Amino acid sequence: MAAEHSPVTVIAIDGPSGAGKGTLCRRLASRLGYHYLDSGALYRLLGLAARRRGIDFDNLPALQVLAEHMDIQFKTDQDRVAVLLEGEDVSRELRTEQTGALASQVATLPAVREALLQRQRDFARAPGLVADGRDMGTVVFSDAPLKIYLTASAQERAARRHKELLAKGENVSLAALVEQVRLRDERDMNRDASPLRPAADAVQLDTSDLSVDEVMESVLAILALKKMA
Ligand code: DC
Repeated sequence: MAAEHSPVTVIAIDGPSGAGKGTLCRRLASRLGYHYLDSGALYRLLGLAARRRGIDFDNLPALQVLAEHMDIQFKTDQDRVAVLLEGEDVSRELRTEQTGALASQVATLPAVREALLQRQRDFARAPGLVADGRDMGTVVFSDAPLKIYLTASAQERAARRHKELLAKGENVSLAALVEQVRLRDERDMNRDASPLRPAADAVQLDTSDLSVDEVMESVLAILALKKMA
């Protein structure tokens, strides 16, 4: 697929869930005054919209139409981004495990990925975009001048998730989370459509032993080296 040649600076950040992409991307976008694309949210929105409309995941034409036309908005209010589906704030429902499971199913369908391509590219507006996902550097913005592949050990990513769940009052065993993370990696990396993998020209950064501030500093150092900041 041909890459889009956009004059807007795009920073593509990919990697497995729990590697710290979301936090890094939001901070980086705010620091640089760039727009932010949370591409995972688009797959989550599509899964949710399809379920609400009773569209089966084997009804590809209907899913494609929905992917191209679903009415979604990202509204930034100070630090918080509210996500609206047909005018309704679905931010909370979007982050549940159940919606994540719907998203990971629709994300395996090439017709859906194709239908969401243009919507993702439309986020690239001046002065720049920080794009967060699994295939930002390999497919959606394959000509991005900076690609980062953020990763962390399965153990560390599970421990981060464990901490988040404990903070929400949910006590799931750490061993079960490690197993879940491994299974999800396996599925994301081995699917046929846009499998998760670093772009050949991506800078790989392992965040297992780094704090959020250290990850941010490393990325700013890379930007400075590339004379992009
Ligand atoms: O990053 P996330 O957990 O919100 O992503 C939800 C699902 O969508 C997850 O199963 C991976 C998939 N996804 C994808 O296939 N490609 C992207 N660019 C972003 C997310």
